[in-house]
Amino acid sequence: MSPGGTSAGTDRLPAQERVRIVEVGPRDGLQNEPTVIDSAVKLELVRRLVGAGLRQIEVTAFVSPRWVPQMADHQTVMAQVMSAAWPGGFSALTPNLQGYQAARAAGAQEVAVFAAASEDFSRRNINCSIEESLQRFRPVLQAAHEDGVAVRAYVSCVLGCPYAGAVAPAAVADLAERLRDMGCYEISLGDTIGVGTPDKTRRLLEQVLRQLPADCLAGHFHDTYGQALVNVYAALDCGLRTFDAAVAGLGGCPYAAGASGNLATEDLVYMLQGMGLQTGVDLDRLVDAGAYICGQLGRRSPSRVARALGARPAKAEIANQQKQGGTG
Ligand code: HMG
Ligand code: MG
Repeated sequence: MSPGGTSAGTDRLPAQERVRIVEVGPRDGLQNEPTVIDSAVKLELVRRLVGAGLRQIEVTAFVSPRWVPQMADHQTVMAQVMSAAWPGGFSALTPNLQGYQAARAAGAQEVAVFAAASEDFSRRNINCSIEESLQRFRPVLQAAHEDGVAVRAYVSCVLGCPYAGAVAPAAVADLAERLRDMGCYEISLGDTIGVGTPDKTRRLLEQVLRQLPADCLAGHFHDTYGQALVNVYAALDCGLRTFDAAVAGLGGCPYAAGASGNLATEDLVYMLQGMGLQTGVDLDRLVDAGAYICGQLGRRSPSRVARALGARPAKAEIANQQKQGGTG
């Protein structure tokens, strides 16, 4: 099943030169924040991300508010995003049929199921084994198929598990293939704790690409050890053209202690632009969106690109300096 929304701007370009970005900041980015973030702030963030040209945004998670309190306003966020009629596709995590039905009631046209390549992480994250999680996804996929709703899937811990350590590439490949066979249009491979390095990423993808084509895979790299961008580079080299990222490098997983933020979307866009690849994203407006949420959270962005661009004098300031005869 095809994704609910892709950028009209980048659709016209040859596939080789186009990279699709799935913005996960409002969900993966905010799910672990210690203080409650107002729904209005989340909505303003999504509005700014849309304004920056992002056309696929994961906005919330229909998970238990007891497990992840920060996503407790899922109904409000999804319903208001859908009623805003912004361009693009907006998705939400749904771990089971209960979550799927709630997401649909709020107007969701795309959802994402999430499994783990490690038994320990599966139990800590969604309270069931990998096999049980697949059984829970079956009715979600069945209902989604009947409703014409697109379903994406995540596989977590593809390059390491916070509880079990190393994860075999073959286990990731088999799980990804099963999710694809169940009807998920894309499998996002998650380095949940950011322990991967380019060589490990390459070895993993070589294995997965024996079983699935690159165009149904995405890379989801957390930046715990500063490796996310080089892992994207390795994945691009292997043929992947879809990557998840979070504005201002927001994020962390409540069930993966020590996991820091996602790859910052600003850093990803800057690198892709430098490689001549098209994303449809306006970097300045993206940096503004990042500055907005960092202002709300009272923290400095970890994105190097956001810091560099944010430090530039504003255009009006430059014009003023030029009028006064000095450019600084
Ligand atoms: P459970 O306790 O096993 O569920 O939780 P249950 O079926 O036994 O039901 C227990 C209670 O939960 C019941 O309520 C249900 O109604 C309720 P009670 O009768 O006790 O009042 N419940 C729900 N409530 C809201 N929404 C639902 C739902 N389902 C049941 N969908 C469950 C199972 C999956 C719900 C729970 O474990 C959970 O919510 N876990 C949170 C998982 C999560 O959000 N983790 C973070 C995201 S994953 C991630 O970040 C990784 C990723 O980014 C990729 C990567 O980086 O690798 C995707
Ligand atoms: Mg994640």
